Amino acid sequence: MEPSVTEKKKIVLSGIQPSGLITIGNYLGAVKTWSEIQEKYNCVFMIANLHATTVRQDPAVLRKNTLEAFAVLLACGIDPERSIVFIQSHVPAHAELTWALSCYTQFGELSRMTQFKDKSARYADNINAGLFNYPVLMASDILLYQAGLVPVGEDQKQHVELTRDIAGRFNGLYGNVFTMPECLFPKAGKRIMSLQDPAKKMSKSDPNPKGYAALLDDRDVIIKKFKSAVTDSETAVRFAEGKAGINNLMGIYSAFTGKSYEEIEAEFAGHGYGDFKLAVGETVADAFAPIKAEYARLMDDKEYLKKLAAEGAEKANRIARRTLDKVYRKIGYL
Ligand code: TRP
Repeated sequence: MEPSVTEKKKIVLSGIQPSGLITIGNYLGAVKTWSEIQEKYNCVFMIANLHATTVRQDPAVLRKNTLEAFAVLLACGIDPERSIVFIQSHVPAHAELTWALSCYTQFGELSRMTQFKDKSARYADNINAGLFNYPVLMASDILLYQAGLVPVGEDQKQHVELTRDIAGRFNGLYGNVFTMPECLFPKAGKRIMSLQDPAKKMSKSDPNPKGYAALLDDRDVIIKKFKSAVTDSETAVRFAEGKAGINNLMGIYSAFTGKSYEEIEAEFAGHGYGDFKLAVGETVADAFAPIKAEYARLMDDKEYLKKLAAEGAEKANRIARRTLDKVYRKIGYL
């Protein structure tokens, strides 16, 4: 059957925390994919600043990071004319639905979340209720917009599964209130590893900044980080077991150029690791250059950014309110 023009596009929702810098891992795993799927779906993207306070934040830094993250999304090609882009705290329904849904989520379920267990080990002196309830806030983000698809990395899969459990339970009690969401995993760059220790995931909280390359790093910094990437004692650029460093660089190169591993091996046949690392660094730096320029332009006009954020919040609020009203009616909140 021909798809008709009136056929509804699926709704996509995703969020990113405003934690300062965006690494290649965040870029390939999230933002790049987001900008590519805008045509195909009705997309809602948000800066998850409510999630950010589950660990202690400096207020001025949080404010700054939130606006910067918003600008990064736009600079990466998220189009506020086509998609809804907003800041989570601007839409009160997220916090409101979180309360309601927390009454439909079991203590045992939240206790089993691996991210909660990891984070409570890492921040042992601040295991707050927000950290525990974090997945309910994420479920609210998703369910408010009736999202059918949620682009996330593997690490968030368990949270989306919990969202389905909560939605299923609520629908079971009250009828069809929520759409059942599914994960949408990025094709390329699902797991970008540290440049210094390819056994570890690339992370912006790595105490060694040489482990990650960030979107807003200077060109020569990016190239230098790639030049000093840890590899192995072989010389041939090929994808193989036991060559985690080279495999990771090939994955990054492939994600930026669209080339297959065979094509990359052919391109660098007879070249050493030095040439290859330089080429990956230059490719990444070239890809980030126009994004950085657009980011700088946007950050130069904060009033314009704030206006876009307000417009995004207004659109998001309209949709979120509709779902929240329905939930309140079903539950019996007068
Ligand atoms: N928890 C996600 C992360 O840290 C960010 C996030 C918040 C999110 N709300 C969301 C992702 C809703 C997808 C859908 O990566």
